[in-house]
Amino acid sequence: MAAASVRIQILKANASDILTDLDLSNDELSYLLDLALEVKRAPREFAQSLAGKSIALLFEKPSLRTRLTFELAIKQLGGDSVFCEGPIGGREPLKDVARNLDRWVNGIVARVFSHATVEELARWSAVPVVNALCDGYHPCQALADVLTIRQRFGDLRGLKLAFIGDGNNVAHSLMLTAVRLGMNFALGCPEGFGPNPEVLAQAEGLSATSGASLEVTHNAARALDGAHAVYTDVWASMGQEQESARRTAAFRPYQVNAGLFGLARPDAVFMHCLPARRGEEVTDAVMESPRSVVFDQAENRLHAQKALLLMML
Ligand code: CP
Ligand code: NVA
Repeated sequence: MAAASVRIQILKANASDILTDLDLSNDELSYLLDLALEVKRAPREFAQSLAGKSIALLFEKPSLRTRLTFELAIKQLGGDSVFCEGPIGGREPLKDVARNLDRWVNGIVARVFSHATVEELARWSAVPVVNALCDGYHPCQALADVLTIRQRFGDLRGLKLAFIGDGNNVAHSLMLTAVRLGMNFALGCPEGFGPNPEVLAQAEGLSATSGASLEVTHNAARALDGAHAVYTDVWASMGQEQESARRTAAFRPYQVNAGLFGLARPDAVFMHCLPARRGEEVTDAVMESPRSVVFDQAENRLHAQKALLLMML
């Protein structure tokens, strides 16, 4: 039970792990956003919420935001974290790694190359596993992003989010999260760089239930029409560096510059998960424009992940 001055009760998630954006129910997702705002409003009220709990952060890829916001979130909630960088399961099977960790810690946050790695960790670990980015999803990012849009526009239902660029992990997570919340979602991407068909089919099913519209198009202008939020991400994700030249050629017309950004609503915000490559997927002018909310997104990683940890541990 939360302290008296906290305006919200801490409810636990039903799922034991967060491997994709679908592991929280729609109600839990909406509740998480409320909890994140309360944690942001009154951080000290939660200062002991994870007292006595330890969390392992296992990162196979570099990170600024995810690592630091998880470390700070855990510390500010009264818990402890340990960090381990490098290939997970290189020296011993993942099932052994998972069964070592669950003897020491109360939760695992893992950034991995392959989604199968977080699935295997979750399968063998007795403690919750949270996906901190894999090749298919970036669920923690999407939580912070919809929180950011809600802070800017209020009720999410009926807003339009346009993602311009690669149908990648961030696009998948945003697509799944947005349509469940009743947000219209459009992905404008070059041919051959669309979302994973299985993820798209899942998102289509969710949008049919929520009434949100969902569109994948190669026409960026069409995706941007009526958009409240314009989102982009790098053209080559971590692990795809060798494809950079081919991708740059294909993605060039999809750069979010003043011209493309101007096709969205006049009050549209610009969003990016960061790190950004100025001059590639976005221009410096758009990144630095008054309608850029990229640092609000970065801040909200902290609040959203605190809420997630409170619900999972
Ligand atoms: N957006 C994001 O996940 O940033 P990092 O790669 O720095 O963690
Ligand atoms: N799509 C990017 C996101 C980085 C936060 C990547 O996977 O590298």
